[in-house]
Amino acid sequence: MRIIAFALLLASAACAAQRRALPVNSTSVSHYGKIAFQSSSNGSVTRATFNNPPINLVDAFVVSDLFDFLHSLQPAPNKTTPKVVVFDSANPDWFLGHYDLHNIELPFTTTKSDIFNQVIDCTRYILNTTSTAFIAEINGRTIGLGQELSIQMDMRFAGPHALASSFENSIGLTAAAGGQPFLGPVIGKARAMEYLLAAKAFDGPTGERLGLFNTYYDTTEQLQSEVSALAERIALFPQHSLNDTKVTLSLLNPTIASLNDQLARFIPLMDLPEDQATVAKFIEVSGNQTNSLFELDIPESSVQAVRNGVYL
Ligand SMILES: *[C@@H]1O[C@H](CO)[C@@H](O)[C@H](O)[C@H]1NC(C)=O
Ligand SMILES: *[C@@H]1O[C@H](CO)[C@@H](O)[C@H](O)[C@H]1NC(C)=O
Ligand SMILES: *[C@@H]1O[C@H](CO)[C@@H](O)[C@H](O)[C@H]1NC(C)=O
Ligand SMILES: *[C@@H]1O[C@H](CO)[C@@H](O)[C@H](O)[C@H]1NC(C)=O
Ligand SMILES: *[C@@H]1O[C@H](CO)[C@@H](O)[C@H](O)[C@H]1NC(C)=O
Ligand SMILES: *[C@@H]1O[C@H](CO)[C@@H](O)[C@H](O)[C@H]1NC(C)=O
Repeated sequence: MRIIAFALLLASAACAAQRRALPVNSTSVSHYGKIAFQSSSNGSVTRATFNNPPINLVDAFVVSDLFDFLHSLQPAPNKTTPKVVVFDSANPDWFLGHYDLHNIELPFTTTKSDIFNQVIDCTRYILNTTSTAFIAEINGRTIGLGQELSIQMDMRFAGPHALASSFENSIGLTAAAGGQPFLGPVIGKARAMEYLLAAKAFDGPTGERLGLFNTYYDTTEQLQSEVSALAERIALFPQHSLNDTKVTLSLLNPTIASLNDQLARFIPLMDLPEDQATVAKFIEVSGNQTNSLFELDIPESSVQAVRNGVYL
């Protein structure tokens, strides 16, 4: 079953790779071409650039490429890993989109469950890789699963086009994969309640004020140069110091047990008939999760869809 699923994944990925040219001059590219890499400081700093047009949907291919990359950062004897990874995007409108909701439509096949588990593994790698600092350089939308991945990184910096939102409550779900458990510690319980329960979005200045973003920069150039300068500065110092700081501050993370508990509560919500109907309608009104006005206007478009009874 797993072998068949993997073969299918490979076949459709080959088509996808042919269609999509990467705009960045990269030193290397991930298996499905969804992430391009550039290194500096002799490999101490890596820029990992997401690129999955048109909306950087977090689909099976993005998940697989992210998993492979994060897996490659695991420390091993005599292995050199980057001290800093900066995630950015080749898409001016999107840092990372939401999860490919086809993958939570029933029936929940082995393939879909494998992709889901790989998402969870990605988040676990972000949390347990203590020898590399992860920085999200956000200058576009980071929505749903995109926001859940961003919020688990060590630092987030925002540019003029940044917009972050966990909009899942508006479709009868919740921000799984860490989105809810991390927002509380990052911005405080009452504000996390406001932004999660009401499916609100943070723009750059608001996110900075509330502590979601370390710093907001008015221009794209300033964002990129300041983040690069920070990464290069961190990379001057020994990796064992970095590792110890990450191990220490990881104590502030929600426990793995609490993250697992939240996931266990998410699955039954996903299975509710009314939420399955909402997801199907969402896929329809978003133009099949493509570059539609609906996608560009999440979370407001999704809130409006609830008001107008579109999801019923
Ligand atoms: C990419 O960069 C390398 C090294 O800087 C250069 O030699 C090469 O010509 C560039 N490739 C493209 C397609 O711009
Ligand atoms: C990179 O390595 C080369 C050769 O070992 C060395 O000359 C250079 O100074 C290094 N650069 C940095 C930024 O560490
Ligand atoms: C790591 O490198 C050292 C020094 O070159 C060598 O003695 C040791 O066997 C290597 N360890 C592994 C696991 O390769
Ligand atoms: C980190 O997470 C990955 C993915 O879940 C897991 O395979 C690995 O064993 C974990 N490593 C540590 C050191 O906890
Ligand atoms: C990071 O620190 C932890 C805790 O001391 C240790 O177990 C681990 O081996 C260290 N990792 C690296 C890559 O130094
Ligand atoms: C919707 O998009 C997916 C790819 O994300 C594609 O496989 C599927 O055929 C599309 N469905 C329709 C009805 O266009």
